[in-house]
Amino acid sequence: LWLALGIRRRQPGEPQVENGWIPYLGCALQFGANPLEFLRSRQNKYGHIFTCKIAGQYIHFLCDPFSYHSVIRQGRHLDWKKFHLAASAKAFGHDSMDPSHGYTTENLHQTFLKTLQGEALPSLIENMMENLQNVMLQPQPAPQHPKEWEVEGIFAFCYKVMFESGYLTLFGKDLNVQEEQSLARQEAQKALVLNALENFKEFDKIFPALVAGLPIHVFKSAHSARENLAKSMMAENLSKRTDVSDLITMRMLLNDTLSTFNDLSKARTHVALLWASQANTLPATFWALFYMIRSAEAMKAASEEVKKVLESTGQRPNPQGPLLTLTREQLDNLPVIDSIIKEAMRLSSASMNVRIAKEDFLLHLDNKESYRIRKDDVIALYPQLLHFDPEIYEDPLEYKHDRYLDENGQEKTCFYRQGRRLRYFYMPFGSGVTKCPGRFFAVHEIKQFLFLLLAHFDMELLDSQVKVPPLDQSRAGLGILQPVYDVDFRYRLKAQ
Ligand code: HEM
Repeated sequence: LWLALGIRRRQPGEPQVENGWIPYLGCALQFGANPLEFLRSRQNKYGHIFTCKIAGQYIHFLCDPFSYHSVIRQGRHLDWKKFHLAASAKAFGHDSMDPSHGYTTENLHQTFLKTLQGEALPSLIENMMENLQNVMLQPQPAPQHPKEWEVEGIFAFCYKVMFESGYLTLFGKDLNVQEEQSLARQEAQKALVLNALENFKEFDKIFPALVAGLPIHVFKSAHSARENLAKSMMAENLSKRTDVSDLITMRMLLNDTLSTFNDLSKARTHVALLWASQANTLPATFWALFYMIRSAEAMKAASEEVKKVLESTGQRPNPQGPLLTLTREQLDNLPVIDSIIKEAMRLSSASMNVRIAKEDFLLHLDNKESYRIRKDDVIALYPQLLHFDPEIYEDPLEYKHDRYLDENGQEKTCFYRQGRRLRYFYMPFGSGVTKCPGRFFAVHEIKQFLFLLLAHFDMELLDSQVKVPPLDQSRAGLGILQPVYDVDFRYRLKAQ
């Protein structure tokens, strides 16, 4: 009977198992309703590690941060590629990018590292800074009439500005706009990006359902939105663009030379990158801006930091004047804004770090206990447990803009649990080999966004007492959660 129901019985040496009440789904509904609460209650019951059946899959949740390294360090027993590549192919509809399946020999991981980090970073940052200002400061008001207050939802504002700037930074600009600089062409370009934004939003809405295994055909409008995005990213369209990032240029080349993908499948791999570059950045930017505006101390400290940098680099914010610039070193040296962003992401991140067992093996924990893991089982870390642990972060539900600053006002890197220093205390970007390759660019672009807003605009919440909107749990496990509803703010260009 156990076998017929697909229910696993615990074998000696294995973590305790919770099969849930519903065949196949197991604990999926309880987990989905509030993953943090679910995992906490099981952690209290079973301890550092336990196994849950979720949607047909047995997942071992490892909850002891001092044991994280045994999963994070790339052990020969654990596979990280299988899960990521399969999830991407399922959600975006491209052929498998796993070299062992024979459609491509590209080492995607290497492509990401080469084109998103190190020497590739300065040009990404430079283009983003320029795009952000072009998007934020248009249309330019006449200097003698400082703009009236503009009221908008913070999420809507962040979405619009970051999507457009990020899209242009990765996928480049319309060649013709550069050549002619005509207003009509610029408007056509804007319309194209806004169209991409609408398609992205429509598709992103059902992303959790796709990851959970539902076929895209069930969702008619999201399906056509994804296909529209793919069509706009066919090589014939991308090749007409200028300032295309190294990432996309290199991926186009490798798709053409190392894969047997057809044109549509190639374009779909670019849609996957559009999603990776935006889906977390957009809500992360929202939370960073929302929490910053809501805290008078954060606003004051960040404004002072911006003022200091502007003075020391001899720049004056002027919407009609030359664009502001910030080097990578200057961006790396904004500890207050850095802490403001980190704290916002601590409170809103719910990523899940996943590895698959390649074979039966023994998992060793920090407390010297060992557990038997079976081949093809999933091992998961859920860093929100860390981020909300009151023993690591005092008053974990509270936003403290300087939580990641030490006594000298520099980045704080020492966090403790029960008197022991933690190696892992902040993980919105994942860990080990699967750590987000775009994380440096992501933090830089959010810094640039906040810096430019503070330099050019006055801004305030419409309701200064507004409550923090709840996190939309439907995306738990996928990264930064969105707010359930938007919050209004008002902004206007600073008087010159
Ligand atoms: C993967 C977080 C922004 C590119 C990931 C993963 C996380 C993450 C948690 C999965 C890691 C894992 O499974 O262990 C974030 C957050 C961001 C952000 C919180 C913003 C605040 C970006 C940006 C880019 C990017 C801006 C590119 C421009 C990627 C790529 C992957 C990835 C390509 C897949 C890597 C692979 O499978 O090898 N990100 N990300 N991300 N991210 Fe990000």
